Order: sequence, then C-alpha cells, then structure tokens
Amino acid sequence: MGLLIKNGEIVTAADRTVADLYIENGRIEAIGTSLEKRAARDEVIDAAGLLVLPGFIDPHVHMELPFMGTVSADDFESGLASGIAGGTTSIIDFCIPARGESLLSALATWREKSKKAVADYTYHMAITGWTDKTADEMKIVVEQHGITSFKVFMAYKGAIMVDDGELYMVMKTAAKLGAVVTVHAENGDAVAHLQKELVAQGKLGPEFHPVSRPSSVEGEATVRALMMARLHGATAYIVHMTCREAVEALERAKLAGQHCYGETCPQYLLLDDTVFNRPNFEGASYVMSPPIRPGHLGHHDALWRGVSTGMLDSIGTDHCPFTFEQKKAGRDNFTLIPNGAAGVEDRLVLMHTYGVCEGRFDLQRMVALGATNPARIFGLYPRKGTVAVGSDADLVLFDPSATGTRSAKTHHSKADRNIFEGFKTKGAPVKVIVNGHVRYADGKLDVQRGAGRFIARKVDRSRVPNPVGVAEMGRVG
Ligand code: URP
Ligand code: ZN
Ligand code: ZN
Repeated sequence: MGLLIKNGEIVTAADRTVADLYIENGRIEAIGTSLEKRAARDEVIDAAGLLVLPGFIDPHVHMELPFMGTVSADDFESGLASGIAGGTTSIIDFCIPARGESLLSALATWREKSKKAVADYTYHMAITGWTDKTADEMKIVVEQHGITSFKVFMAYKGAIMVDDGELYMVMKTAAKLGAVVTVHAENGDAVAHLQKELVAQGKLGPEFHPVSRPSSVEGEATVRALMMARLHGATAYIVHMTCREAVEALERAKLAGQHCYGETCPQYLLLDDTVFNRPNFEGASYVMSPPIRPGHLGHHDALWRGVSTGMLDSIGTDHCPFTFEQKKAGRDNFTLIPNGAAGVEDRLVLMHTYGVCEGRFDLQRMVALGATNPARIFGLYPRKGTVAVGSDADLVLFDPSATGTRSAKTHHSKADRNIFEGFKTKGAPVKVIVNGHVRYADGKLDVQRGAGRFIARKVDRSRVPNPVGVAEMGRVG
C-alpha cells in the first residue's frame, strides 16, 4: 500500500516548497504537484498547513549503556520510541567496549541489544584503550561492518578514558581508514584531581560537579583533540560542546582549513548551572559531562552564535537517561552520580521554539543541524537526512503553530525527570513516518519492536587525507 502526502510545505536544508509526496516500499517514490493515488488502497494524508521535514537524526545517544555502575534507563525500544514521538527517526548510538575488550566482541553485544529497535540506527565505535589488535579491528569495523566513525573519551579516567598516546594512535589509524573520530573533550586527569580535592574537602553535593569540570578543562582538551587530528589529517567531530573556549578552538581550526565538526545539545544552549542547586538532590538530575555552564560567561552566546553561523554543525542530545533512583548512587558523593539525562524527544521542538521562533536560525538551518548535517558527516546521506526521491520515507509532519510544555509526565522515555520540565514550546510533530509507516499520530505511538534496521555506512574518500595536517607535517601516512 502506498502513502500519498498532499499539500505540505517540504523543508530541506536548502529549500521550502509546497508539494505532494508519494511513498511506497519505505522510500519516497515521487515529489511533485497534483500527485494522484496509484492504487485504490493507498492512504492519503492532507498536510496542508503543515511542514514536511526529513526525519531527524540524533547523532549522539546512549541506549542501554552500562555506565558508572548502572545501565542507562532507555533501551533501543523505549529510547527510539521516545525519539519518534519527538520527530527523531534514526539514531547513532555508541558501541563502547570495556577497556581491554575486543571491538568485535562489543559490537556483537550492541547488535544483540539493538534487535528490539523500533527505528533505524547505527553506531560510533568507541576506542577505550590500545592493544596490538586495535588497528586491525578498526579496519574490520569500517570495511566489513560499515561503521565509519569512532569515539574517544578524553575523560572518565580509570574507566573508558584514553591517554594522549592512545588518542594519537586512534587519529592516525582513523585517518588512514578515512573514518571520522568523535571526541568527548575534557582533560580527564585534571577532572580526576579536582574531584579528589573537592571530596577531601567534604564538598560532596551535585553543585560541586561543575566545579570539578570547569570550561578551561573542556577548552584545553578540544585544542588537544584537534591538534591530534591535524597531525594525521584525521577528521574530528567534537561532541556535546558546552563552552566558549571549545567553540573558539573549533573556529580557529576551521578557519585554518582543518576538516572538523562540532556538535552541541539543547541543554547547553538552554539551561544554566543554577540547576545544580535544586533542593532535595534534584540537582543530580542535571549531572552530565561536560556540565551545564553558567549563564554569564559568554558560553551560551558562543554556542548560539556557533549554531547560527555554521561554525557548529549539529545539535544532538547525548540522550543517556538515569532515573532519580539511579542518580541516588551519588547521594553522598557527586562523583558517583551516573552522568547523563534524557533529551531525544525534546530536541526538535526546542530547536524550533528557541532557534527558529526566536530568530536565531531559519527552518532550513534547523533541518541542517538536526538531520542533514549529521547524515552528511556520518555517511547516511542522501538515504537519510533529506526529503528527496529515493530517500527513505522518514518524515515529520510538523505543525509550526501548535503549543506545548515539556514534561516527564508526557514524554515517552523511561526517565522520571525531564531536564526541560515546564519549558513552553511552539511547534510539534503531528505525524511521524518511519520507513513509510505512520508510527506516531496525534499523540499516539504505534511502533513495532524490531522494525528498526542497522544501517551500514561507507567512508567518504573525498576527505582522505585531510590536506591541512598533511601539508603542515610535510608527509603523508
Ligand atoms: O554525562 C554524559 N554525557 N553521559 C553520557 C556519556 C558521555 O559522556 O557522553
Ligand atoms: Zn561524553
Ligand atoms: Zn554521550
């Protein structure tokens, strides 16, 4: 059975056009005016007055992640269902081996837990240490499994953090493979010392979490990560950027011609560090790393400027929810609070409300930041991330005039807190179509466990090797 969507305003990263779409077998078959049903059984949706957006792609989520002694509360079913309700129709999760574990064994674990996915997904492969097998396994992951992006954590010392030597090897190997390296940039050694000192002084509440991870710690690590990428001509993508120092480092690298990308998340644009002072340990709900920053030091301005001008390339969420009960592991010591919060369902409406409606960027840029750029950077384009003939029929029918309020009472994540609780919003997904099926309509989800597919990707050879670093070093390889 086909699906005909009539009279909607299609928004891509480039254009806005009123047109009809015909969908069959999960793909967009035709876009044009006055399209007709092709079979009597075809379903017709009148989208007059609605925007037709490509399904949003969240390039940064953690479903069912074992982390800090517990496991994140959403799995590939509940987390992706929550995403669909918010207009996100595909995700990039992180496959994270334990330190010393083989990449391929971790990949088997992730493939198994993703079987219940209700929308399409892929992974970034984390490198959490370096052995004599890692380079070979990285090649296998790229060439045989279609996973063309890696992840390094420069923080979480004693757990998944890599040191500079390991970072060097990851960048070197990824450059040869033409893979992107995503980076959590914080100086993990400095954080570990600061945490120890604060705890020794009896400073144990969630309000000390940001004190243990100041913005300079993130700025320095961003510079270091970009330098390591540059040495080898690797393409770096800095995840969850929160502060002015980090944005300025990325800006300098881009202006020098380096191929690199930056992501931020709604919480870093919209919240400030007063959240950590909430009474009754509620500040713990906002504990994530890097931390939410103060409102008065130029961080928010730098991030908004970055997303408005194109210096920052994407808005992800770092969806990694823990229930309040889970957060209580750090009741007596903030360093033990599981780091992370929900966000996959909130992103699109927050971008629309606080980005588009407040005049910071236009609809096309909203689509670029939330769908097209992640798809392009990570090799999902044009199958995902745009509205075009031949693309997967992942679409959001979006009512730009609907109003709402974010709340844990109404979201679909298993998180029992919403860090945007009470935020008023403008615009809402009315229907969300995933691979040609209407999976969310008028407030109701109709998802199918296991319907999501792993999407294998290919390396973009046009960015290998990145010429800036190579010219600077006077060598190739
Ligand atoms: O606090 C966070 N961000 N938790 C998830 C893991 C990570 O660092 O992305
Ligand atoms: Zn991180
Ligand atoms: Zn993350």
